[in-house]
Amino acid sequence: MKIIAHRGASAYAPENTLDAFRLALDMGAVNFEFDLHRTKDGVLVVNHNYYVVNRQEKKLPIAGLTFEELRKIDVACFFIGADFHCVPSFEEVLDTLGEKAELINVEIKNDGNVYPGIERQTLEIIRKRNLLNRILVSSFDFDTLKRMRDLAPNMDIGLLVHGVQSIMPGRIIRKAEEIKAVNLHIHIKTATAKNIALIREAGLHCYVYTVNSRKDAERLKADGADAVFSNYPDIMGEWKLKP
Ligand code: G3P
Ligand code: CA
Repeated sequence: MKIIAHRGASAYAPENTLDAFRLALDMGAVNFEFDLHRTKDGVLVVNHNYYVVNRQEKKLPIAGLTFEELRKIDVACFFIGADFHCVPSFEEVLDTLGEKAELINVEIKNDGNVYPGIERQTLEIIRKRNLLNRILVSSFDFDTLKRMRDLAPNMDIGLLVHGVQSIMPGRIIRKAEEIKAVNLHIHIKTATAKNIALIREAGLHCYVYTVNSRKDAERLKADGADAVFSNYPDIMGEWKLKP
């Protein structure tokens, strides 16, 4: 079972920052997940939410900020003990991960197509860097994945579903098949042994988010999950902090 560093080593460093990815690499992670958005002036950036929160606790939509404006915001201001961290661009994260990354799961946040054309733009960067064989694109937005599939017949695609959707595995499996997804990414609450088996019997890989205890990770491994997303790349106790 793969362990995927969810937003980098986000339990130990501000999520989705270059430090979080560097730390995950230091911990020995080879699989990574992060979330993609786009600034007002068209730069693809890595952040979880559609907005960033400034020191005054004001939510600022990424789509309403230029890259330069976004870079001035300290996204680590609520992470205890952290210095200033800015939102990295997609390309900076790819540079940081470099050759060591075996699997890079790019989750495109694009509900309601808030970032028109983001699929083509993402694909251009992936192709330019010759990363197609290491990238897995996922999204909660089915139409985004459909457009990606039309653009990239050989892309590995994972359909991400919310907890409530995966209560109906038959329906989501059919949706995954419709876009020739290779993976289904389901919420831990619905990752029962039965659901995992149904997904795998349909020929799909079953990835589970977000798994932050070793007990859950061991259980999911025993139940046949192919991967877990974890904020703790060392969740299985395989990594020891070097002195
Ligand atoms: O890709 C798995 C997981 O990251 C999906 O949920 O909200 O953490 O992006 P979220
Ligand atoms: Ca995510």
